[in-house]
Amino acid sequence: MTDDQWEIFKRQIGQCVPIGKIQFEPLSDKQQEELLEIMQEHQNNTYNVKIIKRLSEYELLDKFYELLTEYLSTGYETHVKTFYLPDGDKIYLKENSAFISQGTTGLCTWSASLYLLEYLLTIDVSGKDILELGSGAGLLGIALARKNNVLLTDVSPLVIERLNENIAMNNSIAKANYLDWENPDSINSKPDITLCADVIFNPCLIRPLFETIKRFSNVCYISSTKRNQETFDVFFSLVKSENIQFEIIDFKSEWFYLPERDIVLLRLDLQN
Ligand SMILES: C[S@@+](CC[C@H](N)C(=O)[O-])C[C@H]1O[C@@H](n2cnc3c(N)ncnc32)[C@H](O)[C@@H]1O
Repeated sequence: MTDDQWEIFKRQIGQCVPIGKIQFEPLSDKQQEELLEIMQEHQNNTYNVKIIKRLSEYELLDKFYELLTEYLSTGYETHVKTFYLPDGDKIYLKENSAFISQGTTGLCTWSASLYLLEYLLTIDVSGKDILELGSGAGLLGIALARKNNVLLTDVSPLVIERLNENIAMNNSIAKANYLDWENPDSINSKPDITLCADVIFNPCLIRPLFETIKRFSNVCYISSTKRNQETFDVFFSLVKSENIQFEIIDFKSEWFYLPERDIVLLRLDLQN
């Protein structure tokens, strides 16, 4: 590709002009290296896959094929979802297309967090200090940060990076921090409310999660999709064994579409 063609090509790729409108020619190694940088900057993975497929009729550096394999094998495709809230607001979230990708479940929104959010909006929580455990993509915390002081936490550095992106995309004042239930010393907090959505899934993590909830919470809301009754019962028996006051909240969700519907909602009272 001549230098003049390359200047136009580069601008068009940077702006994500539809692939069919762009004139493709073989690229020099230097141009290919620069193209890789542009593709990584805009992170539009669906578009990047199309570029690589279109360029594959020419000789390409191996790095393009490595990137293509990564996109296709890890469910690394991302999109931005718009969640319309019952009060007329919207929350935008960048999510991965696959439920499990890049080694974590935290890059998409699970039904339990939609359910808990809808419930909390009906009781109109405001002016509180809120801590969320295992925040994932961040819907719950970001929505509540419109009226509360919210700290979202997660163990995965990738998830925390995504949380910060999503917080910025919504001009939110929420904060995101690293917190591992197995070693929860990274924060020091005694919020009014602790939130947990879809975090009861791994039997080995139930005790550390429970201890983390006890350490930080006054009141804790936990919404959990019941995929495995036994796993949930282990958590529930810990609550009962320590005589923690609890309430099972009977709530019918009507606003959000919930792909998973068997969700239980608990409120724990740990003030005493
Ligand atoms: C199923 S996702 C739920 C995400 C979000 N709450 C939702 O409902 O959409 C579970 C989340 O727990 C986080 N997690 C898993 N193990 C953890 C640990 N040891 N400490 C803190 N977070 C953890 C994961 O990174 C993931 O974001």
